[in-house]
Amino acid sequence: MHDMKLARNRIRPFVERARQFSGWRLDEFDPKPLEPQPPWDYETRAVELVRAANSVLDMGTGGGELFDALTASFFGRTVATEPWSVNAPIAAARLRPRGIAVVRCGSLQLPFRPAIFDLVLNRHEELDPAEVARVITFDGSVLTQQVGRSRWRELRPFFPRMQDFGDLFHRYEHGLETSGLTIVQARTHDWKAAYRTLGDIVFLLCIAPWEIPHFDPLDADLPALLAAEESLSTEQGIVLTESRFLIEARRTWEDDFDPVKEYRMAHGDVKSIVDSPWTSMGTSDTA
Ligand SMILES: C[S@@+](CC[C@H](N)C(=O)[O-])C[C@H]1O[C@@H](n2cnc3c(N)ncnc32)[C@H](O)[C@@H]1O
Repeated sequence: MHDMKLARNRIRPFVERARQFSGWRLDEFDPKPLEPQPPWDYETRAVELVRAANSVLDMGTGGGELFDALTASFFGRTVATEPWSVNAPIAAARLRPRGIAVVRCGSLQLPFRPAIFDLVLNRHEELDPAEVARVITFDGSVLTQQVGRSRWRELRPFFPRMQDFGDLFHRYEHGLETSGLTIVQARTHDWKAAYRTLGDIVFLLCIAPWEIPHFDPLDADLPALLAAEESLSTEQGIVLTESRFLIEARRTWEDDFDPVKEYRMAHGDVKSIVDSPWTSMGTSDTA
């Protein structure tokens, strides 16, 4: 039998910290890998692609930390989007002094004209493949790393309402292909990793509210958290499956490719395209 009061006190500091969280720097919560990590390196590949581009979009930039680093020696046009009202101004404060435009908008409909970015970067942010393909130039690329479906699958029995976003790997791969892109690489990798404490896991669940809807770690969900801790704890920590996938796709030139026709097919009304590629639709939503 767990002492609920003790457990609550143990977890509370992590919940409080999550409430204050902004930006997207999570290194201190990284688990200890128990098996080989992904054989690719998103950052290395992103830097290579940035070097070859003239214009780059980063979708769901968080606090802009990663995009800032990836574009440190890039002098082309750069735009970042960020949907979360807390992070959009933080990203703007970091990136705008460097000449990077920051637009507050959702990621499934991008407020940009067709065919204007040589490179679209997206790490762990939702996307619509057709929409990404729409904004890529004729020989442009997209590189995305995403969280795989089996991440933390060991928690599902304890949290049946944990979200399952489906087979995004194949959906994105297929969607990019049917939108006229050629897949350069598409890879998945799962590995086991150990988290130091239940608090670390609670923190990570709190800052990603899409994972377990109405997550209530100090009350309704506390018994399930403690049961999961008991069942998954080892000498190395709490062992969970990590899962990532990487997709890189490129638009190769096709003689019959017509961006305006593609845009009409996707959105119907060409008038709704924003005139300036570097501003959002409406200043009120701009960070
Ligand atoms: C996993 S983060 C990725 C950030 C960035 N691309 C990176 O890799 O460092 C996904 C995005 O979800 C955003 N987000 C949207 N709604 C949120 C919410 N309610 N709470 C926390 N983050 C939210 C974050 O700001 C962030 O941009």
